[in-house]
Amino acid sequence: MSIRPILRMGSPLLNSVSAVVGDLSSPEIIQLIEDMWDTVLHLQGAGIAAPQIGCAQRVILFGVTTPRYKNVGDVPATLLINPKITVLDATEIAGLEGCLSVPGLRGMVPRFAQIHYSGYDLEGRRIEREASGFHARVVQHECDHLDGFLFPQRMRDFSQFGFEDQLEARELSEKSAPAKVSVE
Ligand code: NI
Repeated sequence: MSIRPILRMGSPLLNSVSAVVGDLSSPEIIQLIEDMWDTVLHLQGAGIAAPQIGCAQRVILFGVTTPRYKNVGDVPATLLINPKITVLDATEIAGLEGCLSVPGLRGMVPRFAQIHYSGYDLEGRRIEREASGFHARVVQHECDHLDGFLFPQRMRDFSQFGFEDQLEARELSEKSAPAKVSVE
């Protein structure tokens, strides 16, 4: 069990491009993935990318079910090494996101409506899926980490960026608030 500290927004590594993993089953990668699981479960995040624990390698985890995020039900728990995204429907849908590296804050982020994604598991098996809605949002958020982007860099309207408790209070007072989802 190894819970690693999470780098927070401002750390240069979070704005760097991560390296393609050469040997998918090297001891370093196996250890990295174990640490990512331990860390994301401990912090009750819905997903995590390797750079968030200080390792600039193209590895992501998502679809983690925790008591804090119950709406990940339709997103399969997935480890992806060297993931790639192809946009199938470039319509942008706004949704509320958060991030372990941006603690306490949430913001409305436009994401593509439908994507195809692929990558590899630890055994070198290729994973290929199509995703839309919340599932597509989670994958785009985590893959962004590998290219040095945090969700605020994808935002266009900073009036919809703020602290979690304040946004929740606002949501309750806005009857016509759009449907919102959260990503960690
Ligand atoms: Ni994140």
